[in-house]
Amino acid sequence: PPRPLLDRFGRVHTDLRVSLTDRCNLRCTYCMPAEGLDWLPKPDLLSDEELLRLVRIATTRLGIRSLRLTGGEPLLRRGLADLVGAFAALPDAPELSLTTNGIGLARQAEPLRAAGLHRVNISLDTLRRDRFQAITRRDRLPDVLAGLAAARAVGLTPVKVNAVAVRGVNDDEITDLAVWAVEHGYALRFIESMPLDAQGAWDRERMVTAEEILAALGTVFTLHPVPREGSAPAEQWRIEGHDATVGVIASVTRPFCGGCDRVRLTADGQLRNCLFATDESDLRALLRGGADDDRIEAAWRACIAGKGPGHAIGSADFERPARPMSAIGG
Ligand code: GTP
Ligand code: 5AD
Ligand code: SF4
Repeated sequence: PPRPLLDRFGRVHTDLRVSLTDRCNLRCTYCMPAEGLDWLPKPDLLSDEELLRLVRIATTRLGIRSLRLTGGEPLLRRGLADLVGAFAALPDAPELSLTTNGIGLARQAEPLRAAGLHRVNISLDTLRRDRFQAITRRDRLPDVLAGLAAARAVGLTPVKVNAVAVRGVNDDEITDLAVWAVEHGYALRFIESMPLDAQGAWDRERMVTAEEILAALGTVFTLHPVPREGSAPAEQWRIEGHDATVGVIASVTRPFCGGCDRVRLTADGQLRNCLFATDESDLRALLRGGADDDRIEAAWRACIAGKGPGHAIGSADFERPARPMSAIGG
């Protein structure tokens, strides 16, 4: 059996988030500039074979049990369903999930489910078409809504919706989003925005706090706290009178680093022990340099051994990582 991937604070890492591409087909204002970013050149990306080798090492030797595919926008990765199928066929196959903006999911939901994907989290910050276009700089709200419906229809459930609330942008829509999610059977989570945008424009004053979100929700619903699922980032509430929950991911005002079980791999094969890590371990160089599995396992364990206690957003010690959110995968 695999030996647990332990850090020096006793946290066991069982959750791997893999970014499949740094590209995206939206340009959310809180994430990147209108012109996009300098995307990674193709040869820098890990191939499907390289990804499979790393994930096999993670599941069979390191005790990774859940795999989340992220981006950029992971649906842009060519041959995604085949890759999912290959992950699902691995020994000790992990639970497989995907974080996406939902564009193109209407078409890909069924092939992804058939390949072995278990569930999806879909980003959506507004239900108003004009506002969606203002936030994402693209007129694609209908595509996202179609993707959501398809995910639910094929059983990629629970379908979770991630909404980043920004003051003066969509904070007047918190209750509308919640009512809509209850009606459609989606598990909505509001996310406090983090200082990980590519432009460096994050402003704490524009972040809507968990407390404010809960106050807004309290005007239309009676909420009952649900115990946190293991080390999940989201705090959840059951909505009285409905078979539904709503959540907040309060990374800034109520950090959850003490229970962190996550490790991240970027699309170019760099292992990160934290969303906010300032150092990375170059697994791609090991793979391409002919390292054996023992060597890769050792590098992975060393990376986790170097993990700090958590992020320091708000303190004088806080240092932004060199990579923006879109190149890490969230
Ligand atoms: P579930 O397994 O469905 O609970 O997924 P998740 O909520 O962990 O993943 P998702 O990709 O949907 O992320 C939602 C938000 O949580 C994003 O803004 C992530 O950046 C944030 N998030 C996920 N993991 C971490 C983490 O370890 N630390 C911090 N600070 N934020 C995280
Ligand atoms: N802070 C918090 N969440 C963010 N996301 C993108 N950028 C940020 C940020 N700076 C969200 C996306 C998506 C999830 C993966 O992360 O909207 O829902
Ligand atoms: Fe884990 Fe880092 Fe996220 Fe904290 S900020 S929960 S340590 S990944």
